[in-house]
Amino acid sequence: MTGIGTSPLAVAAPIDAPDITKCGNVETQGQVLPVDCCPPTSLKIIDFKPPPITKLRVRPAAHKVGKEYIAKYNEALKRMRELPDTDPRSFSQQADIHCAYCNSAYDQTGYPGVELQVHNSWLFFPFHRWYLYFYERILGSLIGDPTFAIPFWNWDHPGGIAMPAMFTSDKNSALYDVNRSIAHQPPFLLDLDYSKSKDAGKIPQFKDQVDENNTIMYRQMVSGAKTQSLFFGGDFRAGEQPENSPGSIEATPHTPIHIWSGNEKNKFGENMGNFYSAGRDPMFYAHHGNVDRMWSIWKSLPGKKRTDITDPDWLNSAFLFYDQNKNLVRVTVADSLDTKRLGYVYEQVDLPWLKSKPKSGTTSKAKKVGISVGVSAATAAESVKGLTPLTNFPIALTKVTTVLVPRPKKGRSKAEKEEEEEILVIEGIDYDRNSVVKFDVYVNDEDEGGPDKSEFAGSFVTVPHNTKNKERTNTKLKLGISELLEDVGADDDESVLVTLVPKDGNVKVGGIKIVFES
Ligand code: C2O
Repeated sequence: MTGIGTSPLAVAAPIDAPDITKCGNVETQGQVLPVDCCPPTSLKIIDFKPPPITKLRVRPAAHKVGKEYIAKYNEALKRMRELPDTDPRSFSQQADIHCAYCNSAYDQTGYPGVELQVHNSWLFFPFHRWYLYFYERILGSLIGDPTFAIPFWNWDHPGGIAMPAMFTSDKNSALYDVNRSIAHQPPFLLDLDYSKSKDAGKIPQFKDQVDENNTIMYRQMVSGAKTQSLFFGGDFRAGEQPENSPGSIEATPHTPIHIWSGNEKNKFGENMGNFYSAGRDPMFYAHHGNVDRMWSIWKSLPGKKRTDITDPDWLNSAFLFYDQNKNLVRVTVADSLDTKRLGYVYEQVDLPWLKSKPKSGTTSKAKKVGISVGVSAATAAESVKGLTPLTNFPIALTKVTTVLVPRPKKGRSKAEKEEEEEILVIEGIDYDRNSVVKFDVYVNDEDEGGPDKSEFAGSFVTVPHNTKNKERTNTKLKLGISELLEDVGADDDESVLVTLVPKDGNVKVGGIKIVFES
């Protein structure tokens, strides 16, 4: 029931589909860029019914497909681009779906003035699954091939460590987009921990980048994603203010890939680097194909908590999309859970990150703070200069900040750990929604050793998405740290040192605590 206190009107109820007749212009960057991204209206809304499936569509890895497939996708997208802008199936309308659901074109139905937002909460995975579903079905119908399946950008694999060639190699292709990063064209390697402030850094070797990316994937899918709320993101119910907390994959690598892909010469990072414009780049749908694939993979990994949420407020949340026949269709989260029911699966590709556990860098930290390994964080804290007292929060995160955070329990048994995950909560995050924001979180490490170290707990990172509600301060970052604490040998410590390292943008932090969640 997190967040219910944020609005006097809030009741425990699902977020209903928006009333598209009340769609409004969005102000994408303050007053700078008012954009109309509303869909055509329709008087008739039909409820989604799973279509009869004769043959599953198999979504392929973008780097593995042949010429014939690329030509087919190019042709389908060309036809989609040629439809008049007023046609809900047109590429410009498809792109605007993202803008409307992400830049507060809609209020929540029944809650005027309360924004509908599909990021930074448990709506993230299901909304984007539906979005791709209809995009794919429309493309298939435009070429008369109902088995057509969109590709996924396999960025969790060495084969997908650059922008997929189908989107970049032919400037005349419908798959090409000029509003993309110039610096990051292939063969430039994708950094899943990308931040703007890293731009000046040296270019990594292939093997180093692969190793680091694998460690990041391990953290976001395995060690840091052991519960539903860590993976899916915070709950978001009718009447509540949005952006409770992002899920592990949404935060990283989903968001850094957006920023990395957008054109750095554009003030607002278009296309991929800003929510209002992200859907204008065909590569967006391949990026989200892999995000969607991660949902399926997460459920298939061992662990009894790796299941879909059963809360009816999630299951009954609804969205509206136009289908391939221009019908306005109401869909629910419940209907999105099984991709086979929607008629598609992903090509099986190996998961090189599955065993890529990060390594502890504790010795260098010990050297820096002048303690020996094995000394408790509380003792270590005494030798750390400039520790910020927890009582000083809220603070503006303008410099590297280290705090000592008490743990409510210590030395837990294996069974206890399986029952409840230890979660580091960075709360009251207040950030500039117009700009790229990133800060990193380390536990028991002063060296900022990088994402391939066990001490790296994760990052808060957002895509610019100006919205009309700017005063929200309820956003949290939740990081699962049970496995991390074992890896750095802090299981029996009463407290841990948490270091926040600002990377991009302006952000305030309200507080830090450790909680246990099943
Ligand atoms: Cu709706 Cu990748 O964002």
